[in-house]
Amino acid sequence: MQLSRFPRVSLAHLPTPLEHMPRLSEHLGGPDIFVKRDDCTGLATGGNKTRKLEFSMGEAVQKGADTIITVGAIQSNHVRQTAAAACKLGMKCEVLLEHRVGEPSETYTTSGNVFLDRVFGANLREYPGGTDFETEMQAVTREIADGGGMPYVVPGGASNPVGALGYVGCGIELLEQFGEQDLQVDHIVSATGSAGTHAGLVVGLRGSGSDLPILGFGVNAPQDVQEERVYKLALATAELVGAPDCVSRDDIIADCNYIGPGYGQTTESMNEAILMLARLEGLLFDPVYSGKALAGMIDYIRKGHFTAGQKIVFLHTGGSAGLFAYADALTL
Ligand SMILES: Cc1ncc(COP(=O)(O)O)c(C=O)c1O
Repeated sequence: MQLSRFPRVSLAHLPTPLEHMPRLSEHLGGPDIFVKRDDCTGLATGGNKTRKLEFSMGEAVQKGADTIITVGAIQSNHVRQTAAAACKLGMKCEVLLEHRVGEPSETYTTSGNVFLDRVFGANLREYPGGTDFETEMQAVTREIADGGGMPYVVPGGASNPVGALGYVGCGIELLEQFGEQDLQVDHIVSATGSAGTHAGLVVGLRGSGSDLPILGFGVNAPQDVQEERVYKLALATAELVGAPDCVSRDDIIADCNYIGPGYGQTTESMNEAILMLARLEGLLFDPVYSGKALAGMIDYIRKGHFTAGQKIVFLHTGGSAGLFAYADALTL
């Protein structure tokens, strides 16, 4: 698994820290909990997309692109990081934004990530929920090319095999840190959405000979759909890195019971989790992804699925910019 043979640009502060959370661990009275700080990747308030974009934007530069086209929800963390990466590389950024959350507040539609997209000067086009984005992306790509530009499409969440290489790298980085810190880890836990993070991580670990379990907490789809999405992408990513047989279907485990009413909708357990981590560890998580995954991990500890004596690593995928969009929706 030689990542050095793929085109790449430097965008992230790597390696991100791996830190113990002593006060959270003591509060929950279960396993020792660690946090992998991918909220500290360094670009435009950080997050998981920055690792992926090192490879997606690397390919864009190699292909001579001058305009990046991407897609996401109004409060997409992916779009914010892509808009910033385009600025850093001197490219334009065309964004297709989906109104995925029904009846959003004005704060949701104007602050947080979408505000930062505007700060980065991205050209924002808004669409109703359920739009056929494959068709719309093709139309925007044609429009840019017809105008003499060189478009490059980064898919939603940068979740294709090229983007997932970022999390293959994270898997390798984690194994190195476990060795350096002499840590025997029992489980890695993360949010899983468009699947590139989860898929890349599985390939990074399995391709390096580690059988450490990874649990993804889903944020929008039912379990069978989410697991299939991750599995398909993991197979394609494994193929790309030259380790085609390293992943099996059993390696992919998602729990989608902490979504609540839907994508981007608040839940009490997410609200509790965000305040718990802020007030015990001084850390910020987001309501859509990392907050719901945290809620899942806390519930697993309370129910005894993760127990004292174990070591759990929570992959913090970032998203704190999105918190501001939920200023009216969270109960403090
Ligand atoms: C903060 C945060 N965490 C987790 C995820 C999920 O990662 P992925 O889309 O790679 O599954 C996202 C995706 O947008 C995100 O913004």
